[in-house]
Amino acid sequence: MIEITTLSELTIDGKLALHRASSSKDLFDYSGDELKTWFHGQRAAADAIMVGANTVRVDDPSLTVRYAPGRNPLRVIPSSDGRLPLTSVLLNDGLPTLVAVAGRATAATVAALEALPAVEVIRCGDDTVDLPTLLDRLEARGVASLIVEGGGTLLSSLFAQGLVSKIVIKHIAVISGDPDAPTFLTPTPWPGFEPSLSRWRMIEWFAKGGIGISVYVRQGPP
Ligand SMILES: NC(=O)c1ccc[n+]([C@@H]2O[C@H](COP(=O)([O-])OP(=O)(O)OC[C@H]3O[C@@H](n4cnc5c(N)ncnc54)[C@H](OP(=O)(O)O)[C@@H]3O)[C@@H](O)[C@H]2O)c1
Repeated sequence: MIEITTLSELTIDGKLALHRASSSKDLFDYSGDELKTWFHGQRAAADAIMVGANTVRVDDPSLTVRYAPGRNPLRVIPSSDGRLPLTSVLLNDGLPTLVAVAGRATAATVAALEALPAVEVIRCGDDTVDLPTLLDRLEARGVASLIVEGGGTLLSSLFAQGLVSKIVIKHIAVISGDPDAPTFLTPTPWPGFEPSLSRWRMIEWFAKGGIGISVYVRQGPP
């Protein structure tokens, strides 16, 4: 079974970004070199890295290892209709990206993605990307560890399905103050994916460059 670790930056008021639909790169800017090196070391230690389609739309991330030595994990993006901006960095830098779409993605959308360098498309699920199926497909190709960086909708879906083994949070020492800024868990637009009460145990707490980092594993039933 793939070990799934969520790795998120949270503000003091529990936000994933400073404002609604704003890039979490603003939070990354509060990281010093020591934290960036640690963070990218975590990426390098994973076989694959995943963010939700909206994070690609809003942040346009590269999801590569740049501040630490090591290899780039396979990038995995679930997007049910496959409608990602075709100019996205991670679709055009020539490094491997796997886009998981659902049955409702059109053949034209899939063809446009597959025409891009190093982009592979797989279908998992009918209406929404079925995450357990996607994980099975990843495991079959040798992925043993997966980092999920967000956003809140994808995280909600993973927690609702009990798929997360470890939570890592970087506690960025700023307050957003914006009630509309996205929180750690964002309700999914489709029913049946609401996380329920779950209990976690902190196994590590340390600081990197003045930023606290906490690590939790599942405690068992609440
Ligand atoms: N602070 C951090 O660590 C951090 C990290 C990452 C992102 N963020 C922030 O998070 C925000 C974006 O989060 P978000 O909640 O709007 O979106 P998200 O979680 O990044 O993406 C959600 C989208 O993924 C697609 N998806 C496909 N299958 C899914 C499934 N089974 N479960 C869940 N999603 C699925 C759907 O888009 P389709 O319509 O394409 O299917 C869905 O709307 C941005 O502001 C970004 O900056 C923060």
